[in-house]
Amino acid sequence: MTQQVYGKTFGGNPAENYQRFFVPAIGASVAEDLMEVARLKPGERVLDVGCGTGVVTRLAAERVGVAGTVAGLDVNPGMLAVARSQTPPDISIDWYEATAESMPLPDEAFDVVLCQMALQFIPNKLAALREMRRVLDGGRALVTVPGPKPPLFAIMTDALARHLGPEAASFGDLVFSMHDVDELSELMRSAGFRRVDVQAKSKSLRLPAPSDFLWQYIDSTPIAEMAAQASKAKRDALERDVCAQWQEFVVDGAMRLQVGMTTATALK
Ligand SMILES: C[S@@+](CC[C@H](N)C(=O)[O-])C[C@H]1O[C@@H](n2cnc3c(N)ncnc32)[C@H](O)[C@@H]1O
Repeated sequence: MTQQVYGKTFGGNPAENYQRFFVPAIGASVAEDLMEVARLKPGERVLDVGCGTGVVTRLAAERVGVAGTVAGLDVNPGMLAVARSQTPPDISIDWYEATAESMPLPDEAFDVVLCQMALQFIPNKLAALREMRRVLDGGRALVTVPGPKPPLFAIMTDALARHLGPEAASFGDLVFSMHDVDELSELMRSAGFRRVDVQAKSKSLRLPAPSDFLWQYIDSTPIAEMAAQASKAKRDALERDVCAQWQEFVVDGAMRLQVGMTTATALK
């Protein structure tokens, strides 16, 4: 019988883990979908707001080519450090450490603003969307947010509340808090955007096996610190609880995730 080691963590910092685990499992595929909708053209000037480790930013740079310009902006210096380190030297991207609500960028400097899976975390969403509109020169904005919370994540959030406390669970709630089509449409219009179109789609993803994905996800997020501070007994109990319930999603050793993604497109 294989002995199971509960409560394992991958170590490293959350930004490095985000790039190593979350991006291949979820972020890269969502970014490819965003690229399809954005239809970037060579020569366009693109800003990626809440760029994280730069998965969208680098795809945008490939698409606009040397005639275009690309910038990535994020409030988290750790995410930006990984973004820089992951960018090949022949790709030129300007990185800005700043809040989306107050961007150190001139008016009308971009043709396209992209924002993938970040709006839900931004405290003042209306201010951020107004800033995105301000820096557009005509042009278009595309904002993608995940949700509603899929059953697989509901299981994890509920277990986090039970074993690590409400603060750990609240991150999971925040991730899926901004997907409502009417709410997002209204917010975009309030920020001054026109021709607002919001589409909700369901996406299928293949995730690692339960205990791997649990700790890869936790260690890619601010929950990592709370998990590290908890006792091993609590981490073991969390893992046993979540993994038992996640068995229903396992197919051939991997988990199947069905998750909603809502994308707003709008013109300045
Ligand atoms: C889940 S990550 C998404 C990163 C990237 N867009 C992707 O799809 O992989 C959310 C990002 O939003 C950033 N963020 C949160 N609040 C922000 C704010 N007020 N201004 C700028 N960035 C913010 C975080 O630092 C984080 O890097």
